[in-house]
Amino acid sequence: MEFKRIGILTSGGDAPGMNAAVRAVTRAALSRGVEVMGIYEGYQGLIDENMKLFSSHDVSNILDIGGTVLYSARCLAFKEEEGMQKAIESCKKNRIDGIVAVGGDGTFRGACDLSDRGIPCIGIPGTIDNDITSTDESIGFDTAMNTVLAMVDRLRQTCESHSRCNVVEVMGRDAGDIAIQAGIATGACVIAVKEYPFDRDAAVEQILKCKDAGKRNFIVLVAEGCAVGNPTFSEDLTKYIEEKTGIETRLARLAHVLRGGSPSLRDRVLASRMGVEAVNLLLDGRSKLVVCLHGNKIESLDINYALTLDRMFKNKLKDNDLDNYSAEQIEAMKAYCADREARKRALYDIGFQIAR
Ligand code: F6P
Repeated sequence: MEFKRIGILTSGGDAPGMNAAVRAVTRAALSRGVEVMGIYEGYQGLIDENMKLFSSHDVSNILDIGGTVLYSARCLAFKEEEGMQKAIESCKKNRIDGIVAVGGDGTFRGACDLSDRGIPCIGIPGTIDNDITSTDESIGFDTAMNTVLAMVDRLRQTCESHSRCNVVEVMGRDAGDIAIQAGIATGACVIAVKEYPFDRDAAVEQILKCKDAGKRNFIVLVAEGCAVGNPTFSEDLTKYIEEKTGIETRLARLAHVLRGGSPSLRDRVLASRMGVEAVNLLLDGRSKLVVCLHGNKIESLDINYALTLDRMFKNKLKDNDLDNYSAEQIEAMKAYCADREARKRALYDIGFQIAR
């Protein structure tokens, strides 16, 4: 298939670095004589024909800007066949031969459905949560962690002045990746994530041990996933720590602060590498793939395989999910998930081993 024009869209929760991906896709395609249609507001924009033909200049001066110049939206209409058909009509009417979609698993499901209906699509992982199993890292994760560092470094200064404890709740949806790695980097006394059992008395003991060692500032990082089914987890923990340790304890919920900010170098480079690869795959006639970082390599995986891998890692496999895979492929999936889990747990354990 000869590509004359491709579309680029961003979907789901925005992530710092998405603009670098938009820029890389645009520049890479234009450099190969292929036009680029910037599609606004995610898949809804595709349905509504809310789009603009991009020139190289349209993606100038956006590398350092957080958020997404293409905006983002969740699109319920896209889940219905009628909405899907409207999207396909829009592609035909606007002569869009293929699409690069930047986002999370919901974005990839849409890309899969479009590919199955004749519009080749490539997905790029963009979410601060880093909860896309098929890739070691998603765009936005590094910037979000650096934002936690900047915020916690400030909190630590005021905690030092008043000999206080600060519980800091960070985003990540169900994943504790931000809390774990930022917890190590900020020297948190305690890290609480949904993935592993949390003992608040052990946390109190750890804080008292730090205090007895002469420490005057105490940081406790909490992943928001801990609040699933227990919406006041962070508030309750804050109160419990103060009651049991006698240390004045405050709560800081960083929430959407972590979604903004100028992308880090690492995210800009990751997004640029992934954007170029997405164009290469599309123009090489490939489709229904998600671009992934494995170690330092940029690779790609079939979207359905990636989504199944994600459900396996999160223990959310559906009946018949594995029917289309060989015993060897299933073993490879299990090994991949075990390795990813081992790496996450090793980081979590380091956090406690060196906390003082
Ligand atoms: O998926 C990114 C994320 O920021 C999660 O960390 C968070 O739980 C969620 O989005 C918040 O969603 P919304 O922006 O719709 O409030």
